[in-house]
Amino acid sequence: MSLVTAKPHTRTTAEKLQLGFLGAGWIGRHRMKALLDSGVAEAAAIAEVSEDCMREAATLAPKAAQVDSIDALIDENPDGIVIATPSAQHAEQALRALSCGIPVFCQKPLGCNHTEVGAVVAAARAADRLLDVDLSYRHTEAMRRIRPIVAGGGIGRVHTVDLVFHNAYGPDKPWFYDPALSGGGCVIDLGVHLVDIALWTLDFPKVKHVESHLSAGGKALGREQSTVEDFAIATLTLETGTIVRLACSWHLHTGKDAEIAATFYGMEGALALRNVDGSFYDFIAERYVGTSCERIASPPDDWGGRAAVHWAQQLARCKHYNPRADEFAEVASVLDRIYGRPVSTQ
Ligand SMILES: NC(=O)c1ccc[n+]([C@@H]2O[C@H](COP(=O)([O-])OP(=O)(O)OC[C@H]3O[C@@H](n4cnc5c(N)ncnc54)[C@H](O)[C@@H]3O)[C@@H](O)[C@H]2O)c1
Repeated sequence: MSLVTAKPHTRTTAEKLQLGFLGAGWIGRHRMKALLDSGVAEAAAIAEVSEDCMREAATLAPKAAQVDSIDALIDENPDGIVIATPSAQHAEQALRALSCGIPVFCQKPLGCNHTEVGAVVAAARAADRLLDVDLSYRHTEAMRRIRPIVAGGGIGRVHTVDLVFHNAYGPDKPWFYDPALSGGGCVIDLGVHLVDIALWTLDFPKVKHVESHLSAGGKALGREQSTVEDFAIATLTLETGTIVRLACSWHLHTGKDAEIAATFYGMEGALALRNVDGSFYDFIAERYVGTSCERIASPPDDWGGRAAVHWAQQLARCKHYNPRADEFAEVASVLDRIYGRPVSTQ
């Protein structure tokens, strides 16, 4: 790879961020629209290998330069790069951007394993550049209400967290089912959100022990990585004594499109995020004390693009590394343990 000489550009505070978008498929275009609608950013350039997707993206950002590689995107000297390509490309592309001093917002997962994620986080730290990942459920109104109550001791000591994410359709694109392109199945696709929500809400206690069962088509999977898992259950024991139980799947007979829930059981109450009527988009939050139930968040809630907009707003203020990015490596390490992979010490 050649070293890139950046075009000189100094942004005034009144100017919008000029972003580069790498991958403009379904989520790439959704996040691009959210960023453009927020008024914080403009699309300086889009890199996309599919003509159809580029055409769709160009309707959102007609003035953006259209290119076909990350190097061409970097040549446009963007203030930051938004990555939304198939998952197994993320780590290498994020490393490439960061090596040129360009801040990154990446779709989850940031990498296929802890070694990859750790390398990206280390690169962001070394380059002193802002790095964020689209852990979008953190930004639902439901989780925004739940987390401070847990942190403030509002339900007492949390002894158990119960999480589910069943996507009854499974992904509709073939690359998700090829481990070389996706890095894994429902654990890396959906479980990443569950592990993140649990640890983030509890302020990232160490995970002492992990037990898991992964299967594909109803057959137990070992450590071989030639087939992606479509069902997983895992139990994490945290250093605090809290037990985190999670289940995630593709193509499960759930009787609805999706079942998504995160319940935090404390000594003095419980808090739950739950999707409404099988929706992928509508969530409520409830607070339970004994048999009583209080609704604390309800739809409508346009949360999907919030993580991206939050990153862009932060970037407009300061492009430097945020140490909270270390959390992405913690989550990746837990996913490795769920997969039964050797734990990387990087
Ligand atoms: N944060 C979330 O909640 C969330 C939700 C959905 C998807 N995702 C993640 O977003 C990513 C993309 O998912 P999707 O459903 O949009 O997939 P997609 O297949 O619709 O989009 C990927 C796009 O990347 C393009 N592409 C592939 N290689 C490229 C390259 N080298 N350079 C430029 N473009 C390239 C493809 O042509 C395609 O348009 C995945 O990693 C997925 O896990 C995250």
